[in-house]
Amino acid sequence: MAFGSGNSAALAAIGNIDREVKNTFPGAGVFWAFTSSVIRNKLRNEGRPVDSPEEALEKMKDFEIIAVQSFHVIPGGEFDSLKRTIRTFEQRYGKPVKLGRPLLYHHKDIVEVCRLLPELFPLNLHMDDAVVLMGHGTSHPANIYYPGMQYYLNQLKTNCRIATVEGYPALSDILPDLKQQQIKRVWLMPFLAVTGKHALNDMAGDGASSWKSVLEREGYAVNSIAKGLAEYTPMVRLWISHLEDAFNESVDHDD
Ligand code: CO
Repeated sequence: MAFGSGNSAALAAIGNIDREVKNTFPGAGVFWAFTSSVIRNKLRNEGRPVDSPEEALEKMKDFEIIAVQSFHVIPGGEFDSLKRTIRTFEQRYGKPVKLGRPLLYHHKDIVEVCRLLPELFPLNLHMDDAVVLMGHGTSHPANIYYPGMQYYLNQLKTNCRIATVEGYPALSDILPDLKQQQIKRVWLMPFLAVTGKHALNDMAGDGASSWKSVLEREGYAVNSIAKGLAEYTPMVRLWISHLEDAFNESVDHDD
């Protein structure tokens, strides 16, 4: 289950995940669903329909073991709604469903993500370079994962900050830190599973309010890395390891 995206790079990323899942679980049926109804409607109008979580689960009801992996980044509203959908399915068919946690959940998940992130950074970063990650952000309490992750990012060798489009901290909240640290060049990178309008427009776009434009007006040289986390195989493996954990755990989701 992914949030979903209509752009071809994102769909290619999903193709990669699909291959990795099939390699990890040979012989298993693999079904995809997008949790965003806006994106599902868009794709349906383009003649490329993708199932909703309910529709995909319905197709899985006759399988012996059913497991769902969330390709979300944090356990926010989308993950909550997925849990409700699964609960309804379990009650209707009397069949338990195993659920793999999103990218960030336990302490060890954040440690793992921060261990992999530097592999995605550009080589030869200078002292006055900073990497700024664009997270989504949310009004859901799980937004705390973003400022929480900053604590872990502070332990990296690279100067790396995280800010969000729709939550806390916003880009404006981290500008004083960049100034204080005398940063000259900022590398923008999505901390999003796939690239969509946020990465392409709000982060790297040429519009006056994009992060790129805001930072350039502040006097920074800006480079954008427009690649979603799900485009990196080591990150995909992390999500898939959560699916493996779900297979090995007894079913119990608390909500
Ligand atoms: Co959004």
